[in-house]
Amino acid sequence: MSDYKTFNHPERFIEGWYWAIPSKQLKVRQVKSVTLLGRDLALYRGEDGKTYAIDAYCPHMGAHFAEGKVEGNAIRCFFHNWKFDACGSCVDVPSLGKPLAVEVQTWPTAEKYGMVWVWTGDAPKHPLPFVPELENEECDAVFGSHFVKNCHPNVVMINAIDAQHFNTVHNLPLKIVFDYGEINENAIAFSNTTRGGENSLFIKLIRPFYKKEVTYKMCYWYGSTGTVTVGPDFFHFHIMFALRMTEGGKTEGQTILITKKRSPFGGWIFNRVVLWLTQMVGNYFAKGDTQIFQTIKFDLRTPIKEDRAIVQFIQHVEQEKSLNWRSWIPVKAR
Ligand code: FES
Ligand SMILES: [Fe+2]
Repeated sequence: MSDYKTFNHPERFIEGWYWAIPSKQLKVRQVKSVTLLGRDLALYRGEDGKTYAIDAYCPHMGAHFAEGKVEGNAIRCFFHNWKFDACGSCVDVPSLGKPLAVEVQTWPTAEKYGMVWVWTGDAPKHPLPFVPELENEECDAVFGSHFVKNCHPNVVMINAIDAQHFNTVHNLPLKIVFDYGEINENAIAFSNTTRGGENSLFIKLIRPFYKKEVTYKMCYWYGSTGTVTVGPDFFHFHIMFALRMTEGGKTEGQTILITKKRSPFGGWIFNRVVLWLTQMVGNYFAKGDTQIFQTIKFDLRTPIKEDRAIVQFIQHVEQEKSLNWRSWIPVKAR
């Protein structure tokens, strides 16, 4: 196989924010079991309405905290009722009548676009993934599809900047050249203003709004979450592909359809239509590649000029801070 440190590696990933569970599935005082990047966690929502992530197994005897109970912003183990606060410190051992000096590892969490995200390190060094164009906007977001793919998240992500395949797979006879740029040290962007494609179904679909240019922008976080912005000059659709690696270097993902919030009633209806159209756009691109992701053994042995964006993406992934699957311990520099 290849000689990459992190890219397409089945047991490594970039330190960052990863989606964990939809916000709606975690009500106040609820606790759920989530396995994220090989690590078993218990996620709960405290009485303050905030979400908390803690390593799953109780340091007393290993019971799973998802069997336990939320008290205030702390969690009490079901088995012998030891209690741990939001920082993971033991604050009560009922049979002793006092706490013990033991701790559980906790992880930063945040919510955005209807999703709970977990930061896989100490203090978060970067903002949550966002659509650059909507950075300072309040947004409406709904979930599109939830999916699994039989290949690595990096490989799924590459699809969005694989210039040649827009023509060969998606019937978009466009001349695509991606400009590369950095949003911050953890996020990169590729953008393109395309012309042509008169005969394609997608261009016909957006024909009523379409003058002569189609915008296509792609941003990546941690090589694993990407946002696509696509549309004619004056109306852009935004889709986030939130991916995470599962056992054996496979992919579990969720698409999130996003648009900026518009004023009450009329705006709400307008946004439902926009988000429905966004879903149509997403489906158009999703359907052509399904089978490829089942069987591909990614190995870019013969890159050509048109693959330049892919090579840049790989270089970006290789520069980021790499963590080991399951332990979340940094990979030592070679
Ligand atoms: S296993 Fe958690 S309190 Fe005993
Ligand atoms: Fe594709």
